[in-house]
Amino acid sequence: MTALTDLLGIRHPIVCAPMAGVAGGRLAHAVSAAGGLGMIGARGSASPEWIAEQAALAGVGGTPFGIALMAWVPQLSTQLDAIVALAGEQRPTLVSVSFGDLTEPVTRLREAGLRTACQVGNAADLELALAAGADLVVARGGEGGGHGRDELGTEAMLDLALSTADRPVLVAGGVSTADDVARALGQGAAGVWCGTPFLTCVEADNTPQARAALIAADDTRYSRVHDVAQDLAWPREFGGRAVATPFVRQWTGDEDAMTADAKGEHAAGRERGDTDYTPLYAGVGVDRLTAETDAASVVRALVDGI
Ligand SMILES: Cc1cc2nc3c(=O)[nH]c(=O)nc-3n(C[C@H](O)[C@H](O)[C@H](O)COP(=O)(O)O)c2cc1C
Repeated sequence: MTALTDLLGIRHPIVCAPMAGVAGGRLAHAVSAAGGLGMIGARGSASPEWIAEQAALAGVGGTPFGIALMAWVPQLSTQLDAIVALAGEQRPTLVSVSFGDLTEPVTRLREAGLRTACQVGNAADLELALAAGADLVVARGGEGGGHGRDELGTEAMLDLALSTADRPVLVAGGVSTADDVARALGQGAAGVWCGTPFLTCVEADNTPQARAALIAADDTRYSRVHDVAQDLAWPREFGGRAVATPFVRQWTGDEDAMTADAKGEHAAGRERGDTDYTPLYAGVGVDRLTAETDAASVVRALVDGI
């Protein structure tokens, strides 16, 4: 039906975006069983054992799935080794690497015969991904949830990628409805890469409390607040879009001035499971989340009528 479904042998041009802490093997399996492609989002600290366990959950019965790594993390090389070592039902159909220097990891994966994708947020990222030889490019705009750039909106990033890339382009960032999917395919995208619509699936690894807070939320901010609060080493250019809790609102734009007391308040809030402090990463589509759901229902809603 599209270059994506042909390339990956899947029914629908819908990829459930990798989401560290949310999209593990269970969600990936459920999305792929419903005809899309589910991606496992590996945390920066993910161990080779975690990667193998999640791949086993996702690939059960020969179901296709993908795995995503973050290019900037110190553990990248160990994580690449773990992915390259996966075999049989655990071998991923797609591996994505984003956020940092893409050349080495993409080369390594291609040499191992794996298909690759990179999320790109500006012209330089796009050039890097194409030169590295990524099989798919994911044009990701600032409306998207989680980490990434906030330089170009989704529409502008998609236009840029479609006019430049000589291979299939997916689109990410605020794609929430079947109309959004139809529009993206009409513009020439080979598929969509959606995270936020899957955040309240029961197969996700987030907590029921987090899902309830996401359902209640209707506003987001792009900031470095949660990274600074936790002293995480994300490169500055990759902030993250998250639910606009009072703490996020207070420190957005003022991250470098965050006090030790504020970091302590954040840590204590997370410790007691207070969702005002949990990093609830989500894109602008968060206002469309109205109930707990399941992966098959989300996939069905996204392809309704297309
Ligand atoms: C909770 C959450 C966690 C994310 N974690 C990752 C990740 O581990 N790796 C990655 O490449 N992208 C990650 N992303 C970004 C997504 O892959 C994707 O770009 C984004 O969800 C698309 O925008 P949308 O949320 O508006 O659909 C994450 C996004 C969210 C919402």
